[in-house]
Amino acid sequence: MRKSNFVIEEMDIKLKTNFIGTNFIYYDEVDSTNEILLNDTSIKNHGTVLFADNQVKGRGRLGREWITIKDSSLTFSILLTENLRGNRINLINLAASVAVAQSLENLYQLDVRLKWPNDVLIQTRKVCGILVESVSKGDEIERLVVGIGVNVNQPIFEGKFNIPPTSIRKESGKVSSRERLIAEILNEFERILKRIKKDPDSILNSWRSRCKMIGEKIKVVDGENTTYGIFEDIDDKGFLLLSDKDGMKKVFNGDVTLR
Ligand code: BTN
Repeated sequence: MRKSNFVIEEMDIKLKTNFIGTNFIYYDEVDSTNEILLNDTSIKNHGTVLFADNQVKGRGRLGREWITIKDSSLTFSILLTENLRGNRINLINLAASVAVAQSLENLYQLDVRLKWPNDVLIQTRKVCGILVESVSKGDEIERLVVGIGVNVNQPIFEGKFNIPPTSIRKESGKVSSRERLIAEILNEFERILKRIKKDPDSILNSWRSRCKMIGEKIKVVDGENTTYGIFEDIDDKGFLLLSDKDGMKKVFNGDVTLR
C-alpha cells in the first residue's frame, strides 16, 4: 500500500487542545470513521479523534454517500462521551460547522457561509459536510460522534452532486496542509465546545452571521415531505423556524434550498 502523505507530527505541533484530539487514532483506510467511533466501545476517551486517509463507505446526511479522495480530503470523526445531558446537545451540530468556518477564515480568508443544518460552503459551493450520529441507552446519549469531511486539495470533482462541490485548493489556488487545517479545526471546536454551556447564544449568533438564507423564501425537502416558507431564524436548540400562511413551524431535518 502507498505511504500516506499525512504527517501526524506536523498536526501535533499546531494542536493546542486539552482534550480534543489528545487521543488521536490514525487509519490508512476504513469504511467509515463515524461507524468505528459509534460501534467500537473499546474506544472510550472523550475527545478521541479517529482520522482515516481513505474512507470507502463514507456516510453523508439523509442516507447519502460521502466520497473521500486519498491524500486530498480530510476525513475524521470526534468522539464525545461527557456532558451529553441536556438539550444543548443539538447545538454541537451547529458548533462543528462554526468551528470549520472559523478555521477556513483564519487560515485562508475565504468567504465562508453556512447552510442549515451544518453544511459549510464557500459562497454557494460545498467544501465540507458534517454528520453527527449518536448511540443512546434509554433516554441517555452514551456516545456522540461528530464526523467531518473537508475537500482540501481535490483539483476537480466528477459526478453528480446535490450541491456543487469545491475544495480549498480550487478556491484559494494553492495546495493546503491537511495537518495545519485539522489542527485548526480541532482547536476551534474545543474552544466552541467550552462555550456551549456558558454562552450558547454566542454559538447561535456565530452560526446566524454566516447563514445567508435567513429571511429568504426557502423549500425544505425531507424524504417525501416538501414544505415552503420563509426561513425566519433558528431556535435556541438550532432547529429551523419556518413561517408560512399557517404560522410558524419547527423543522428538524431536511434539505434546504432557496426558492
Ligand atoms: C454530508 O454533508 O452529507 C455529511 C458528510 C459527512 C462526511 C464525514 S467524513 C468523516 C465522517 N465519516 C463518515 O462516514 N461520514 C463523516
